[in-house]
Amino acid sequence: ARIRRYKWEVKNEFKSPDCYRKMVITINGRTPGPTIRAQQNDTIIVEVTNSLFTENIAIHWHGIRQIGTPWFDGSEGITQCPILPGTTFKYQFVVDRPGTYVYHAHYGMQRDSGLYGSIIVGLPDGESEPFAYDYDRNIILNDWYHNSTTEQAVGLSKVPFQWIGEPQSLLIHGRGRFNCSSLSVPSSDPGLCNTTNPDCFPFRLIVVPGKTYRLRVSSLTSLSALSFQIEGHKLTVVEADGHYVEPFVVQNLFIYSGKLIRFYRPAPSTPPGQGVLVYYPNHPRRSPLTIPPAAPVWNDSRPRMAQSQAIKARRGYIHTPPAVSDRVIVFLNTQNELNGRRRWSVNNVSFTHPLTPYLIALKHNLTHAFDQNPPPDGYDFLNYDIYERHPNANTTSSNGIYRLNFNSIVDVILQNANTMNPKNSETHPWHLHGHDFWVLGYGEGKFDMFNDPNKYNLVNPIMKNTVPVHPFGWTALRFKADNPGAWSFHCHIESHLFMGMGVVFAEGIEKVGKLPSSIMGCGQTQGL
Ligand code: C2O
Ligand code: CU
Repeated sequence: ARIRRYKWEVKNEFKSPDCYRKMVITINGRTPGPTIRAQQNDTIIVEVTNSLFTENIAIHWHGIRQIGTPWFDGSEGITQCPILPGTTFKYQFVVDRPGTYVYHAHYGMQRDSGLYGSIIVGLPDGESEPFAYDYDRNIILNDWYHNSTTEQAVGLSKVPFQWIGEPQSLLIHGRGRFNCSSLSVPSSDPGLCNTTNPDCFPFRLIVVPGKTYRLRVSSLTSLSALSFQIEGHKLTVVEADGHYVEPFVVQNLFIYSGKLIRFYRPAPSTPPGQGVLVYYPNHPRRSPLTIPPAAPVWNDSRPRMAQSQAIKARRGYIHTPPAVSDRVIVFLNTQNELNGRRRWSVNNVSFTHPLTPYLIALKHNLTHAFDQNPPPDGYDFLNYDIYERHPNANTTSSNGIYRLNFNSIVDVILQNANTMNPKNSETHPWHLHGHDFWVLGYGEGKFDMFNDPNKYNLVNPIMKNTVPVHPFGWTALRFKADNPGAWSFHCHIESHLFMGMGVVFAEGIEKVGKLPSSIMGCGQTQGL
C-alpha cells in the first residue's frame, strides 16, 4: 500500500458553473475539487488550508469508515472542531475498500457552495473486478442555487419560514446551463449571466464505439432526487456505495444525494441537466440532433421504490447479515415547529449541535458538554397517524445521543410521515457515518413491528451507507456497532440536516485512541 499526499487550498472565487456568476468555494481553483485516486489500503493524507475570508470549514470523506481514525471523519461538531480561516488541518486515513466515494464540506450548508469531489479506490495490483470494462469515467451530479448558503440559512430559520425553493440548475460534473433570458430583472452587467462563458460549456463524455465504460456516478445534490439516463443506451448497475450489486439493467437510474452510482430532473420548475455523449471521432462541440428523451414523472415514487427494492448483493460477494439484532430503534421522520420556526424532527426531537464535538466530550468525560439524556428509541406506534400533520406542532430540541453497546447489532427503522403540508411526504436519503448497513427492506405505510420483520431480506441484502426512505414509507437497516467513535446519521439533504434531521450514535469510546490535538480548540476542548 502507498501513501498519497494532497495539498488543498480552499478559496472563495467567482465562477459561472451554469453561466450565472456566483461566489463559490473551490479547492485548488476548481469545483468539483480534485479527484482522489487510490488503491485499497492506501493511506490518504490531505493537508487542507482554509483560505476563505470569514468561514470555517470541515471536510467529510463520505463512505470511508475511518476505522481507527474516528477523529478524521470531518463532521464538524461531532468529530472535530472547525478549521478556522487562515489555518491548515491535516486529514490522514486509510481507504480500506475499493469503490466509488465522495468527499464534501460538513460545516453548515457549505456543500451547496461547491466544496465537494470524488474518491476512487481501485483494487490492489493483480486483483480484478467481477465485471469487465475498457474505460473508467467519473461523473458527479449536483443541483445549484443562485443565492448563497447564508441567504438560504437566514430564510430557513425565519418566522415565517421561507423555503429555499427548487434549484435554478442541475450540474453534471460542475457544468449546467441556466437560461439567462429568464432572469426576472435583466442585468446591466453583461458578465452576470453569459451563455458563452466557457465555465458553463456542457459536460462532454467522449467515448469510443464498441467499448464498455464504467461510469462512476455520484450525486451530491443539496435537495434533489435525480433520474440519470443516457439517450439510446441502457445502463447496467454493478456497484453501489462500495459494494458489488447483482447486475441489473435500467433506462433511468434514480439517484439520491449522497448515493454513489444525460438527463435528470427533480421537479417541474428546474430544467433538466444535460451533457453530451460524443462518439469518437465526432467533433466534441457537435450537439445531438435528436430531441432529449422525456424524464420519468418527477412526483411518482413507485418506480423509485421498485428500483430500491431491486438492488441485491452480487452473488459471490454477499455478506450475510446477523439473523437477529440486539436493539431496534425506530426513527419517525416528521416536520414540525420549534417556537414558530419550521424544523425537522426524529421522534419529535430536532437535532442541534453542541459547541464541543461529541467525540472529544465523550473521550474526556465532559458531561456538561451535551444533554446526557438519550433521545427516544421510538414513537407512539399505535396512535400516531403518519398520513396527517404532526398533531403536536411544537417539537423539542436536544443534542442528546444514542449510545450503542460495542459490537452490538442494531436495527434502525426509518419511518416517514406527513410534513406540515396536507397530503405530503418527502423522500429523505439517510446517510450513516463510520459504518455500512444491510438494507433489510422497504415498505409502504406504517412499519408493522410484528409482521414486517418476517419479510426482511436476510439472504442477499445490499450493504450501503446511504439509503432513501420513500414518501409515507419505511426502510429497515441493520448494522454492527463495531467502529469506536461518535458518528452522525442524518438526512443528506443539506437544508433538512440544517433544520434538525439527524441523530448521533456513539460506541466503544473506551477503545478510541489518543485524540490528536489538531481537532481541538472549540467549546470546552481548550487546554486538552
Ligand atoms: Cu455525505 Cu454527513 O454526509
Ligand atoms: Cu430529508
